[in-house]
Amino acid sequence: MNILLIGSGGREHALAKKLSQSPNVKLCAAPGNPGILQFAHHAHIDITEHEELLDFCEEASIDLVVVGPEAPLAAGLADDLRAKNFAVFGPSRDAARLESSKAFAKDFMLRHGIPTAQYRVFNEHQHHEAREYVASHPLPVVIKADGLAAGKGVTVAETHRHALEALDAAFDGKFGTAGRSIVVEEFMDGEEASLFAICDGENFLTLASAQDHKRIGDGDTGENTGGMGAYAPAPIVTTEILREAEERIIAPTLRGMKAEGHPFVGCLYVGLMIDTSGNARVVEFNARFGDPETQAVLNVLDGDLARLLHSAAIGNLDRSTVQSVASGVSCCVVLAASGYPGEVRRGDEITGIEDAEKTSNGAVSVFHAGTMLHDDVDGTQSLRTHGGRVLGVTAKGTTLEDAIEQSYKAIKHIHFRGKTYRTDIGQKGMKKG
Ligand SMILES: Nc1ncnc2c1ncn2[C@@H]1O[C@H](COP(=O)(O)OP(=O)(O)OP(=O)(O)O)[C@@H](O)[C@H]1O
Ligand SMILES: [Mg+2]
Repeated sequence: MNILLIGSGGREHALAKKLSQSPNVKLCAAPGNPGILQFAHHAHIDITEHEELLDFCEEASIDLVVVGPEAPLAAGLADDLRAKNFAVFGPSRDAARLESSKAFAKDFMLRHGIPTAQYRVFNEHQHHEAREYVASHPLPVVIKADGLAAGKGVTVAETHRHALEALDAAFDGKFGTAGRSIVVEEFMDGEEASLFAICDGENFLTLASAQDHKRIGDGDTGENTGGMGAYAPAPIVTTEILREAEERIIAPTLRGMKAEGHPFVGCLYVGLMIDTSGNARVVEFNARFGDPETQAVLNVLDGDLARLLHSAAIGNLDRSTVQSVASGVSCCVVLAASGYPGEVRRGDEITGIEDAEKTSNGAVSVFHAGTMLHDDVDGTQSLRTHGGRVLGVTAKGTTLEDAIEQSYKAIKHIHFRGKTYRTDIGQKGMKKG
């Protein structure tokens, strides 16, 4: 099976590694990164140029395209590929609105009785009305830009002043067109967890549950980031909560999308808020795998990922490709560059990845996120930092404690200037376990 993988982050490195373990797979990647390209041939194409990408798929006889990030989906890449009869794991532009428009997702959930926070949507012509609504809304209140804002479009405001500032900033263009409409939402109390459902438009298979760690600092303090680590499975998602989420959230979402003419094919990411009585409501949908949860979730998947994703892409989900979604427990600790999530310096040399993987006897995989190969003067190449989140050090163990210990042991082998990470990834799960 010839597969083209789109993307260049840690999520895609984890996908590349798992896909390459499937029998008879030949993998290409664009844009890729130094970690992904250990498993994949580099497809020298501009992924924003759909014609160029289609030509490549034709020439390389691609059997399956796996789209990692959200931007190409929102740009209609899956539609263009399907129009030429290529099998794509990733939703159409319309189906991807579950992620690319929070107003669409909220209205959709309301239409289909899917549990989520109360909300109201305002457009830019309703600025005054929105201000009045926010000013009298109970606190905390959540203000969300409608569109894709690279994880920066949400404010959980503790004061009305802060909420109004967030509202004004969105309408003043802080998030460009993504902030033309905004969602004002009721605050939900509880603990968050993520579910990934592999969907063929009608049927689905839910992978291991996971918990992300969004804040930069230990104990969930400081600024929001793209995610500083994850572990899977997450004990907060009990068998009962999982079944409820499948019955009351995932299944009706797939039914609703199909009935509305936009069947969802791809990974439906369900962000859950679970309250103390075990009731789960939707915080958000994403239309793709999460990063860094994927690094942990795929690490405990025992199965043939290439055949699973292909079967979903052709509308005929084959659950027999998976033996277990949770064989073991996995923990992924993100190593970031100093300054992250603000401006970071790039170009610092990274050493010790091989050591970290070797000394663990195969329990540890180090996934590249923001790295690049630098041509040194002596004709060799060195690995350098090239982004905020640099690496995802991911270990698999028999218990969560074991997985956490292995990841942190491995981290000690890896060096680059300014290496920054949280020391408490997975501790939330230890308290539950
Ligand atoms: N109604 C709510 N109640 C409580 N917390 C919320 C609510 N909505 C959002 N949050 C918090 O804000 C975070 C970001 O919100 P959301 O997931 O909608 O945004 P996003 O930018 O699409 O995130 P991502 O980058 O993960 O896709 C959530 O993970 C959650 O911690
Ligand atoms: Mg989102």
